[in-house]
Amino acid sequence: MLTTRELQDEIIRLKKEKDVCILVHAYQSHDIWEVADYVGDSYGLSVKAAESTASTVIMCGVRFMAETVKILSPDKKVILSNSQAECPMADQMDAEMISQMKVKLPDYAVACYINTSSELKTVCDACVTSSSAVKIIKNMDAKNIIFVPDCNLGEWVANQVPEKNIKLVNGGCPTHVRLSPKDVEAVKALHPNAKVAVHPECRPEVAALADYVGSTTGIMDYCRNSEDKEFIIGTENSIVQHLQFECTDKNFYPVSRDCVCHNMKLTTLPDVYQCLLGTGGEVIDLDDDTRIKAKACIDTMLSLG
Ligand code: 13P
Ligand code: SF4
Repeated sequence: MLTTRELQDEIIRLKKEKDVCILVHAYQSHDIWEVADYVGDSYGLSVKAAESTASTVIMCGVRFMAETVKILSPDKKVILSNSQAECPMADQMDAEMISQMKVKLPDYAVACYINTSSELKTVCDACVTSSSAVKIIKNMDAKNIIFVPDCNLGEWVANQVPEKNIKLVNGGCPTHVRLSPKDVEAVKALHPNAKVAVHPECRPEVAALADYVGSTTGIMDYCRNSEDKEFIIGTENSIVQHLQFECTDKNFYPVSRDCVCHNMKLTTLPDVYQCLLGTGGEVIDLDDDTRIKAKACIDTMLSLG
């Protein structure tokens, strides 16, 4: 049996030998962070995917992230670290539903969160991530914009871009939606000096109690750079652990012990090893029509963001 350290050393040796880039979303576990070529939020991962020169990319995250890599780098072999890692929000709406909305609202452009399927992206004008959404919505030509599927993120964006007429649709992240104002108040009562940092996928009444609202990378930068010593974190609980590793002179508390994304937690270090051996993960394949149409939507994000 290998120790964690031995397995990590073997992964690092194999990825160099096989010209593999390991991209890791911030919600992955710390042992996976330590073998990554890049760790970041959804926007950072898209930029790195477009830039990477490796012939193979292993995406440790969920399916839409691996599909984004394939769309941006069709000639690379792209492997999703665990074939069951799906984002439930990405399946809440489909291309057919968006096409019907476009018929009913012909004066509206459609912006979709990157947490959607490639098929859905083929019928949208621009894609956004939590860290790029405000800028992209501001920069879009259209005044009337349908925003799907996360109405919490959509409302947070709409409040910052009042010049646009944004139509929201009822969808969202089942992990972040679990957090309530009562949860924040209960942890704040225990740690009254702590600053509160939450993700915009949280409900607006939770975001209203926060000192900072932003993407996973944004939350980490806010805590890193702050003079404060205590923080209450309202996003997937792995971020609490990563911050505690990095800022040992500060204390981090989760808003709720239930803010766990089981899909993000599916990938294990042995999964990454199996991907390198060719005995695990799923090789992502998209048909050309879907890939080319979805790419237009992601390219707009990269150019406006
Ligand atoms: P970001 O990393 O872009 O903040 O996204 C959070 C998330 O829920 C990804 O699935
Ligand atoms: Fe999807 Fe939410 Fe999990 Fe992110 S945290 S992968 S949005 S379910």
